[in-house]
Amino acid sequence: MKASGKSLAFIVFGVIFLFLFSLGAFAIENSECLDCHGDPDFTVELPNGKVKSLYVNPDKFKVSVHGTNEIACTDCHSDITKLNYEKEVPHKVPVAKVNCSDCHDSEQESVEESVHSKSISPKAPECFNCHSYHYTERSAALTVDERDHKFCLRCHDPLKSHNWLPQKEFHFARVECSVCHSPEAPKFVALRFYNPITEEVIPSKKILEALGATYEDFLEKLDKNKNGKLDTEELATALAILKKKGIHAAFMGELVVDMDPSVHSITKEKAIKECSKCHSEKSSILSNVQLVLGKGDKTAETYPVSKAALTSFHVGHFYAISATRIKVIDIIGLLIVLGGIAFAGGHGTIRMLTIPLRRKNK
Ligand code: HEC
Ligand code: HEC
Ligand code: HEC
Ligand code: HEC
Ligand code: HEC
Ligand code: HEC
Ligand code: HEC
Repeated sequence: MKASGKSLAFIVFGVIFLFLFSLGAFAIENSECLDCHGDPDFTVELPNGKVKSLYVNPDKFKVSVHGTNEIACTDCHSDITKLNYEKEVPHKVPVAKVNCSDCHDSEQESVEESVHSKSISPKAPECFNCHSYHYTERSAALTVDERDHKFCLRCHDPLKSHNWLPQKEFHFARVECSVCHSPEAPKFVALRFYNPITEEVIPSKKILEALGATYEDFLEKLDKNKNGKLDTEELATALAILKKKGIHAAFMGELVVDMDPSVHSITKEKAIKECSKCHSEKSSILSNVQLVLGKGDKTAETYPVSKAALTSFHVGHFYAISATRIKVIDIIGLLIVLGGIAFAGGHGTIRMLTIPLRRKNK
């Protein structure tokens, strides 16, 4: 059988061709779904009389993490495989439940370890109660305030518990819930350029423009001694350049989790409670310091910073006592620099200036 090799190849190519063709022919375009679901007035009345919107905002979907990764409507609503326009509703309803775990199995595994999965409460969150579904965003570029307010604080009021923790507001403002509640998740101190007067993070674009750098060469340009990380002096130089260009910047420090599936193993019993995990010279949590530059799509570039920088700068709202200690010489320098804005800086500045006093009183 001389021809067998050839005919086998023919059959293989034929099958591949048919497969590709079928993908093209039967895949339902998002635009078909949006012909109906892209209408803002598209609603149905539920049996209980309530009106439910069936509108999906096409522009918001397009810029979501799934939209930008070309995930189609039918990748999630995978039970809809064809549309039959002869019928009033062209697909069967109710539509099957979406399984985020089809694509996110490691997150699903981690969620199964969490207090939420173990709870019998019907109000315990599913993936999309925390993340939303059509308009899912990334969070790497977000501050603690933006992350926690979006997730945990919708259902929990942490001020009602945690009575063992002094200065609750300060901790919740600068330590992401998951840092304590997902003890296995990788964590780091995130430093960002911020304006100490408005207390707003300065857009990365502005920083890069003023420093004449790009995301790619930022570290190389600033790291004068070529030790692979940003040291106190190198950061001070950057602040000085920014100041010359009219950008008044300081550093804001926060304790956050890294983007890793293990953030989902939320626990109560094993949550971090020992003060020394953070408030000690040897804290491993505080030794990983990264400068964060957010990008438009809410991803972020991070650049390693030497731990000493934490002790030398006034890092806004970030005084993990005894782990980060501002040296007297720096305080004097800061008094001179900050003298002019002490009033405008208000609360934050006063807190900073009274730190050495408060420490002596202890
Ligand atoms: C990342 C997965 C995902 C993608 C992609 C997705 N959906 Fe959904 N969709 C869901 C989830 C989850 C629900 C909520 C199900 C629930 O409430 O139980 C939902 C609900 C809906 C609903 C019911 C109304 C509502 O908002 O709750 C409609 C209509 C809908 N989707 C249409 C679409 C269309 C059209 C697209 C494409 C433009 C799309 N979906 C893309 C996950 C997705
Ligand atoms: C011709 C208009 C039309 C098109 C096209 C259409 N749908 Fe629908 N869809 C409807 C109607 C009508 C309902 C409400 C059915 C009901 O609940 O009575 C609905 C309901 C839904 C729901 C909610 C169902 C539920 O269980 O509550 C989802 C999800 C959905 N559609 C997704 C899609 C997706 C994904 C596409 C594209 C593959 C699509 N639809 C295309 C008309 C349409
Ligand atoms: C068909 C596959 C698919 C499904 C189903 C799916 N996703 Fe995704 N998801 C992706 C892809 C691809 C990315 C982008 C991954 C990347 O680039 O890191 C993503 C990214 C994400 C991110 C952003 C992660 C980050 O980097 O911050 C979140 C959050 C997310 N998905 C949540 C969900 C939720 C919630 C559901 C269910 C409603 C869901 N996904 C269903 C494919 C999917
Ligand atoms: C959609 C609502 C919702 C969201 C969002 C949510 N939770 Fe929960 N959480 C619950 C419910 C419901 C329970 C179960 C309460 C019970 O079983 O008594 C729970 C339980 C817990 C518990 C255990 C409480 C106990 O007394 O045993 C902790 C800790 C917790 N959640 C932390 C978090 C954290 C951290 C986040 C954010 C990453 C979060 N939750 C987001 C609803 C939510
Ligand atoms: C410094 C670490 C830390 C931080 C930050 C933290 N928690 Fe906790 N949390 C704990 C510990 C430890 C417990 C265990 C309770 C106990 O033993 O008192 C707990 C308990 C809880 C409980 C259960 C309360 C109860 O009634 O028993 C909830 C809910 C909770 N935390 C939510 C949150 C949320 C939401 C945030 C973010 C705003 C947060 N936590 C931030 C350490 C922390
Ligand atoms: C209780 C709230 C909560 C639930 C439920 C939840 N997440 Fe998350 N998720 C988070 C938090 C918090 C982060 C860390 C990012 C942040 O701090 O904003 C995160 C991060 C992620 C990331 C980026 C990190 C990574 O793993 O690459 C993905 C993807 C993701 N979640 C998908 C899911 C999926 C899929 C489910 C369901 C199986 C789910 N999440 C359930 C709170 C939640
Ligand atoms: C997960 C890390 C972590 C744990 C655990 C933790 N802290 Fe903190 N703590 C911080 C950080 C970060 C700050 C800075 C917050 C700020 O200034 O806004 C802080 C601030 C403080 C402050 C305010 C300092 C000042 O100068 O205003 C006090 C007091 C404090 N912590 C005491 C404690 C005690 C006592 C415990 C144990 C019961 C504890 N902390 C547990 C991280 C932690």
